Parts: sequence; C-alpha cells; structure tokens
Amino acid sequence: MANGGDSGRRHFRLTAHPLTIHHQPKTRGHIISRTALVTGGSRGIGAAISVALRDAGYKVAANYAGNDEAAAAFSKETGIKTYKWSVADYNACAAGIAQVEADLGPVEVLVNNAGITRDSMFHKMTPQQWNEVIGTNLNGVFNMTHPLWPGMRERKFGRVITISSINGQKGQMGQANYSAAKAGDIGFTRALAQEGAKAGITVNVVAPGYIGTDMVMAVPEKVRESIVAQIPVGRLGTPEEIARCVVFLASDEAGFITGSTISANGGQYFS
Ligand code: CAA
Repeated sequence: MANGGDSGRRHFRLTAHPLTIHHQPKTRGHIISRTALVTGGSRGIGAAISVALRDAGYKVAANYAGNDEAAAAFSKETGIKTYKWSVADYNACAAGIAQVEADLGPVEVLVNNAGITRDSMFHKMTPQQWNEVIGTNLNGVFNMTHPLWPGMRERKFGRVITISSINGQKGQMGQANYSAAKAGDIGFTRALAQEGAKAGITVNVVAPGYIGTDMVMAVPEKVRESIVAQIPVGRLGTPEEIARCVVFLASDEAGFITGSTISANGGQYFS
C-alpha cells in the first residue's frame, strides 16, 4: 500500500489518558470493591501494604501468624480485620481463606508478603532453619495461591503479588535458606504468569531491598551499617515505598504487566 495520506495508517489514540489509576471496576456508576488478602499483613511491609490497599478502596484482610498483640493494635488503629493462621500450613490456609471469603467476598488480590529469616552461615545452618524458611517463604506462597487459583480462573480476574527480596536476586551470605526461597518465588511467578495470562490473572513480584523494618533492624548493627553503605540512595527504604508498588500492580491498569519483578532497592542491585 502507498504511504500517502491517512489511508494506511492505524488510528492510535494519541491523547493522554487521565493519570488516575483505577483500582476498582465500575458497574453503572457504582464502584465494586475488590477484596485483597495480605499475608503477614499486620506488621512491617505487610502493614503498609494493607493500609495502602484499604486507602485505594479495597476490602482488606490481613493475615498474621504469631503476634496477637501487634495484630490487635493494628486492627484497632486501622479498622482492618486480621486473621490468624500460618502460611506454612496448607490446610490452615484453605480454612483461613474460606473464612475471609465468607466475611469479605471472593479474594481477587492476593499479596504473598509473609516472610521470616533464620540467618546463619551455611556451615552452621540446621535443617530446621532451612525448613522453616522454605516452609514459610516458598511453600507459603504455594499454600496461599493454590486454593485461590481456581476462583480467579473462573472469574477471569486475579492479581497475585509476591514480595521477594533483593537477596533472592543477588544472593546474600548468611541467608542460603532465605535467598533460595526468595529466588524460588521469582521462578514460581514467571511460570504461573504464563498459566494465568489467558484467564486475566497477573502474577508479579516486588523485590524490596533493605527496608527499615524489624527484620532488618535485627541484623547486627555493624553488618547493617555495612549494608546501608552499599545503597546508592544512602538510606533504608520505607514500607510505604514498597506498598505503592503493590497498589500499582493490583490496579486494573496493570493488566499488561505479568511475570515481572519490580525492584525497589535504592539502586543497590540491578537485575
Ligand atoms: N554483609 C556483609 N558482611 C556480612 C553480612 C552481610 N550481610 N553478614 C555477615 N557478614 C560478615 C560479618 O561482618 C563477619 O565478618 P568479619 O568476620 O569480618 O567480622 C562475618 O560475615 C561472619 O559474621 P558473624 O561474625 O556475624 O558470624 P555469626 O556466625 O556470628 O553470624 C549471621 C552470622 C547470623 C549470618 C550474622 O552475620 C547476620 O545476621 N548477618 C546478616 C545477614 C543478612 O544480611 N541478613 C539480611 C536480613 S534482612 C532481610 O532479609 C530482608 C531483606 O529481604 C533484604
């Protein structure tokens, strides 16, 4: 075809779309609130994610495993309901999810955030330290995603967002267990993204660097100082900076992004 005039040209819309991000679907002017479930959602990065999703209009359920006192304080302060079970236990996950869905409706956004550390140099690492970290940080992602997957497929919509780590990308001395689990989360995401694509489900990872949470503050001070010295922006990140990545990936507009890893690490590592 000749290149004259407009005859062979596709008419793409060139005007900018409004910059608003739509987190919720609209039906006849009414906003339908989606339900989001955040594991480890009452403390640290998870708490910031729960609050940010609530502020974006989601009905939020925050799962936690151990700290009743922190969960009660979080609920009181935010109005977000908390649910106790261990993500390391498949049957507990299925039962917990059923309870959340009975209370808030089908879970359309799953944030796999729950994570633990059992740091140790490998020559001193026990099978228990290995198994606990794999059980929560990797098996936990399977245990939570698997029961929710059929519903997401049926409804032709879903968002699975897993919080990995810079240490799953680059490896970290003292964390063979944690680095293995967090790298596994990225492989899991890339495989599942391909399976979910045709069903309108996106599966993504956010890989935080060092964030100012209890987990990082538990690192010996001398080691922590040496870590901060390696962060080009010169500081630890904040939980809210990670939460903003999650809210974006959960939004309807992020539907073309799947199998991706958003690294938020202050320039410490480029993968
Ligand atoms: N960066 C740099 N050096 C480190 C290091 C790190 N992350 N971890 C350990 N080292 C160094 C120590 O400074 C020490 O060096 P020297 O011998 O020169 O003093 C050496 O490795 C051995 O360490 P320790 O003397 O502390 O050995 P230990 O057996 O008593 O303790 C440890 C080992 C439990 C792994 C302890 O060093 C530790 O907790 N290190 C931190 C590991 C780490 O970085 N964890 C990240 C937690 S935050 C997180 O996981 C969130 C996230 O996703 C980013």
